[in-house]
Amino acid sequence: MRTIDWVDGAVEIIDQTALPGDLRVLRLHTVGELIAAIQSLAVRGAPALGVAGAFGVALAARVHGDDPAALHNAVRKIETARPTAVNLARGAQRAAHLLSSGPEAVLAEACVIRDEEIAASAAMASRGADLVLQLCGERPRLLTHCNTGGLAAVTVGTALGVVGELHRRGALAGVIASETRPLLQGARLTSWELTRAGIEHRVAVDSAGPFLMARGEVDAVILGADRICANGDVINKIGTFSHALGAHRAGIPFLVVAPESTVDTATPTGGHVEIEDRGAAEVTAWSDAVNPAFDVTPYDLVTAIVTDRRVIRVDRGERP
Ligand code: MRU
Repeated sequence: MRTIDWVDGAVEIIDQTALPGDLRVLRLHTVGELIAAIQSLAVRGAPALGVAGAFGVALAARVHGDDPAALHNAVRKIETARPTAVNLARGAQRAAHLLSSGPEAVLAEACVIRDEEIAASAAMASRGADLVLQLCGERPRLLTHCNTGGLAAVTVGTALGVVGELHRRGALAGVIASETRPLLQGARLTSWELTRAGIEHRVAVDSAGPFLMARGEVDAVILGADRICANGDVINKIGTFSHALGAHRAGIPFLVVAPESTVDTATPTGGHVEIEDRGAAEVTAWSDAVNPAFDVTPYDLVTAIVTDRRVIRVDRGERP
């Protein structure tokens, strides 16, 4: 099943706000509906956002094809619907480059982006599984954070794709899914995907991760990214940095699995990235709150970055 696709003139997505209770498909016919879906996290995860951005421009081209100002405005709104994952603006811009060739050319480019993400997931799964086994030996116990499965891409996913591949090889001893406060992408979505794949797992509260690592219950941390900067800094779901510190302290690998479409060498360091603030309401109803949705993991805590084309051994001085 594809998390996002173009079907009969509209964008179809699995509504991730309804999971794990309901498996519901939403059909999005307008740019406004698509932007609302992105902002509510009905569609989410860096690779899926790249595809959503491109399909959004395809929708805009159909509706505003003869009105350049409206079209420009729609593309701008899509690109900036969420600020942190580089894939969103990148996907929208790639599709927008075809606007002068007409709506069908824009849609074709969006479909190419979708297909590239499908291929990238497959490449990362096998390359990442090889690296995990090389670094950890047979039957590792892994901890993952947020959701990096097919729901966050189009199919398969990034870090969770590696987990699935290790399971298929009979080479996985256990998975801990960090719950991922406040929207519970780990407890709701990763757990749902692992259950559907028949992979035994346990959910842990976010703050338990470093302690479980210190107690020797985790052999490697494996997770995704929303943006990887030129110096190797990794932007990912809030809580990632804590897991990286825990892994460093425990002396276990900290592995980032992300497609090349998430590598942003135009951004020098994590300090240059806008971290989305999602407001207080998601955290608490009775006091003010600070709610950064992502954090920056400094490159010196990263062992390796696995993409669909290469393994970057950050610990050995390699950089994106
Ligand atoms: O706010 P979200 O759910 O879109 O955040 C997603 C993440 O942080 C993922 O880890 C990242 O996009 C990688 S998805 C393969």
